Formats: sequence, C-alpha cells, structure tokens
Amino acid sequence: MIKIAPSILSADFANLQRDVELVDRAGVDALHIDIMDGQFVPNLSFGMSMVAALRPVTSLSLDCHLMMVEPERFVAQFAQAGADLIGVHIESTRHIYHVLQLIKEAGAKAEVVINPGTPISAIVDLLPIVDQVLVMTVNPGFGGQHFLHPMLAKIQELDQIKRQSGATFDIEVDGGINAETVKLCYDVGATVAVAGSYIYDSPEPEQRIQDLKVATN
Ligand code: DX5
Ligand code: ZN
Repeated sequence: MIKIAPSILSADFANLQRDVELVDRAGVDALHIDIMDGQFVPNLSFGMSMVAALRPVTSLSLDCHLMMVEPERFVAQFAQAGADLIGVHIESTRHIYHVLQLIKEAGAKAEVVINPGTPISAIVDLLPIVDQVLVMTVNPGFGGQHFLHPMLAKIQELDQIKRQSGATFDIEVDGGINAETVKLCYDVGATVAVAGSYIYDSPEPEQRIQDLKVATN
C-alpha cells in the first residue's frame, strides 16, 4: 500500500485545524505543506509560521515542499519551526548538494524534487544523501491540475536505479493524484503519494483517503 500525504493547499484555511485532524484520524502518513514564493512558481502560499502553527496540532510528519528560489536561505528556519522533512527543487538553487546537507544538519529529513522537465539523470549523484525523491507529476504552482502521464517512465527509471543500488529512499509523486493515477504510480515504484484536491475538494475526504489506499492494496 502506498503512503498518503494530503496537501493542505486544498484544505479550508479558515478551518485548517479541523481539516488536519480529519485526515489524521482517517489514517495518513504525513502532511504535505506547499511553500510558494511567487518567483520559482507563479503563486504564493504560506511560510514557516504555518509549520509552527500546525506543529502542536498533529503528530503527523510535516513534509515541507519548498517552491522558492534559493531555499538555502530558509531551510534551517523551516526545521526550527517543526518540519520533519524538507523538499527542495534541484532547479531552484545553484548548490543543491549543499542545501541537502543543510537540511540534514538542521535535523530534518532531506528530499530532492524534480520538475516535469528535469530528467532522473540530474539527481543520480544526490541519491546517496536523500531520504526521499519527489517526482512532480504536474508543473508546480497550483492544485487541481491534470496528471502528466509521461512522468511514469521517470518514476520507473528511478525505481530501477534504487533497486540496483539497494537504496531505501522513498519515491514520492505530487500532482493530479486520484484513485486511478495513484495506482499507475504505485505500480512503477512510487512509495508516497501527495493528494490535495482529490481529498479536500470532496464532501467525503475520509472516503477519498480509503479509495487511494484500496487502489494500491
Ligand atoms: C502543486 C503542489 C501540490 C498540490 C497538489 O504545485 O506541489 O502539492 O497541492 O494538488 P493536487 O493533488 O490537487 O494536484
Ligand atoms: Zn507539493
């Protein structure tokens, strides 16, 4: 079964504690927090104060997906605020190896993220130092977009490299995940699925979480 990480980007911000506790009770593995700076992606969301506010509300792993230029400026502050895992885009910094080192030094798990246009070959040298790789399955910036099917080949390629090397990092997918696309990803090696609109735009979010689990059982 795949691990589920609901994205609060599609939650009701006026009732965020309720929406976090709802998915927590339904049995998910992490909470996905999308941080957008209006430069790396054409949208704004929230910053580390959101992580600090959610920390006392849940014991779920707080996974921060940083969509910002030069994330090295802020990774220590996100860890300090309570992030358990911090994901940084390879396209967002000149010094990806260093940023991943900074995340680990700050006591968080380190994730490298790749945009749809970035090949797996770009991150091969980073695999020994990451806890998780996020393969974006939409162009980052917005919830509710359609899954990009050509990304399946990249997930499969990464899974093959992982198996050949005996590595244990998780492979996460983010964007356009529903009960159909989650199975496609799981079947080629994804171990964690982010889902935003599929869960939170439904009148029955708990049922949607169950549907994601059943699809990969
Ligand atoms: C998009 C974000 C996603 C987003 C996914 O840039 O990284 O985490 O919340 O939303 P859905 O699941 O609706 O595609
Ligand atoms: Zn995300």
